Amino acid sequence: MSDKAVLSPAGGAVVPTERDSLGQLSIFRLDGRVALIAGGGGAIGSALAAALAGAGARVAVADVSDPGLESAVERIGAAGSEGLAIAADVTDPAAAERVVAATLGRFGRIDILVNNAGVALMAPVDEYRLEDFDRTVAINIRAVFVATQAAIKHMKTGGRVINIGSCNAERMPFLGGGVYAMSKSALVGLVKGLARDLGPRGITINNVQPGPIDTDMNPADGDFAEALRKLMALPRYGTVDEVAAMVAYLVGPEAGFVTGASLTIDGGFTA
Ligand SMILES: NC(=O)c1ccc[n+]([C@@H]2O[C@H](COP(=O)([O-])OP(=O)(O)OC[C@H]3O[C@@H](n4cnc5c(N)ncnc54)[C@H](O)[C@@H]3O)[C@@H](O)[C@H]2O)c1
Repeated sequence: MSDKAVLSPAGGAVVPTERDSLGQLSIFRLDGRVALIAGGGGAIGSALAAALAGAGARVAVADVSDPGLESAVERIGAAGSEGLAIAADVTDPAAAERVVAATLGRFGRIDILVNNAGVALMAPVDEYRLEDFDRTVAINIRAVFVATQAAIKHMKTGGRVINIGSCNAERMPFLGGGVYAMSKSALVGLVKGLARDLGPRGITINNVQPGPIDTDMNPADGDFAEALRKLMALPRYGTVDEVAAMVAYLVGPEAGFVTGASLTIDGGFTA
């Protein structure tokens, strides 16, 4: 049995951990916890759903993409947990409230919110359409704030909010990326400020900033891929599972002292 303990998700109370067959402590578990992933039907989103489910969490996923939702819920089931798919446009505050209510209705609690929905609309400044500027702000910034407001009302001590930002908040070496970089930079400031609001309630909020990750949004064989690899210390694309592993750590009890931080996982793109 256990000779070590970690903080429980409820905070304060201590729960035992067990050694596995190799004699290692079984930590990085999310048993009993409920996660909501906004934009959970995407490439990184469904990998996050599978990772949190594999660690024992029940996971609700909200997305505008029906096929994305279906595949995320399948992956949650395959990881041995229970999933809930919610069709929703998270830019709509009423939809965000509905998503949180559906999660509570099905699972009875909400411990983890991951704001993963995002768009990367690129164009040179002279050609950039204001409707794309507004859409970027609505999805990449405003929806993050709206979902956070809706979810934290129901979180207890030990609650976790993660935003999926981008390494482009730190470095944007190409033409046409100003608005995307601005939107992800906004999340850097947002988590700093909100960490102060949420700290007294025992809730942490952090920003995970991936570099080039092989997805449809940024394929490893796409037009920009070679140029991106040349800028990296590790000249390869990252995988969705590498991002998911970092998030799985941050939402667990082991990361209870990490808040207000923007953590980069980018193969040295910003090094
Ligand atoms: N792929 C990369 O290289 C990379 C790098 C850095 C950051 N990111 C960030 O990671 C996140 C996920 O990106 P991805 O590569 O998995 O792309 P993706 O397009 O597969 O995932 C984005 C998901 O968000 C959903 N979405 C968009 N608008 C929505 C809305 N209004 N309401 C609900 N859902 C909505 C989409 O349907 C999609 O499922 C994004 O925030 C992106 O900016 C990606």
